[in-house]
Amino acid sequence: MVKVAVLGASGGIGQPLSLLLKLSPYVSKLSLYDVRDPTGTAVDLSHINTVAECQSFNKDQLVDALRGARVVVIPAGVPRKPGMTRDDLFKVNASIVRGLCEQIVQTCPNATVLIISNPVNSLVPVAVETFKKFGINDTTKIMGITTLDLVRAETFLGDYMNHSRVTTVGSNQFDKRRMHKVVSVIGGHSGHTIIPVMLLKPMVYMMKPGQYDSFIHRVQFGGDEVVKAKQGQGSATYSMAYAGYRFVEYILKSIQHESLEGLGYIPAYVYLPGLKNGSIVQSKLGSKELEYFSIPINLINGRIESVDTTILDKLSKQEKLLVDKAIPELIDNAKKGQKFIRNAA
Ligand code: NAI
Repeated sequence: MVKVAVLGASGGIGQPLSLLLKLSPYVSKLSLYDVRDPTGTAVDLSHINTVAECQSFNKDQLVDALRGARVVVIPAGVPRKPGMTRDDLFKVNASIVRGLCEQIVQTCPNATVLIISNPVNSLVPVAVETFKKFGINDTTKIMGITTLDLVRAETFLGDYMNHSRVTTVGSNQFDKRRMHKVVSVIGGHSGHTIIPVMLLKPMVYMMKPGQYDSFIHRVQFGGDEVVKAKQGQGSATYSMAYAGYRFVEYILKSIQHESLEGLGYIPAYVYLPGLKNGSIVQSKLGSKELEYFSIPINLINGRIESVDTTILDKLSKQEKLLVDKAIPELIDNAKKGQKFIRNAA
């Protein structure tokens, strides 16, 4: 049983994510922090008769919100409006994530830190560099959440393959998804850097002509569908809350030393040089400059023990081309985040 802190808990993602965490049997304390007072959300959730004890913290109480946290999830920041890319959010959200990480590093440096705020491709480097600046070089507990891309891939592929859509929420039903054996997603979390990987290659041949290409495009740009449909009111929140919860649950299970078998190839956007076999990813992809990549992870006690490099051996010619196309953008995105911290006074 652990304390989980949600930073940005009053937001479109923060509220439904907090609800799902309130339902989790793995959470004993749920700490809700936001610059927009989350008291209402916390009181409301506290009436649910599950174990997790909810507490709210306003903008002056970040230290209290973080004290004792084992897992910190960050959906704090501004979301996209129609016509914006995730990169357009960088200036505002990089400062927010830097500020939050500066406090995490001082109050709960051993917590697992999970970044939802966009652009993930640049903000995970902001978090990693902030930790390093404070002398913490173990970066195996800092991850960007890319699970929404996986959830979209599973849903859209399921649709294409005439499988039933997965609509259940609830931790005991998560293992029943079928598509996790069929598809994973690697690369990054923006447009062309999102690369679905078919784990069962024959599935591609079973699709109708053109379906595979439109599947790839939909996974890469599925976020735009939501931004457009919300007409200026933000981006994905409910599906992101579900995806975020699925990833946090994966972390919490590993903290409880539960078996993670059968949960699928769950990727995260990670700092390769900080991982024991991260350099294998760089060699397999032929780029030493590529320092951040989303790839399935193996966890031990809430930290990355290693990454699953075998997925890179399974890439088709087309998937490999997509990865090659993504690498320069991933390198640029990461450098942007690194420079933001390294060049700061
Ligand atoms: P939102 O605007 O509804 O909520 C953001 C919350 O963060 C607000 O309540 C705001 O008060 C709070 N906040 C701002 N500065 C803060 C600070 N310094 N400390 C604590 N809280 C702070 O936005 P929404 O829709 O919840 O999205 C949040 C972020 O998640 C956005 O950057 C969005 O682009 C990103 N996102 C990421 C996805 C992913 O797959 N990783 C998917 C969808 C959205």
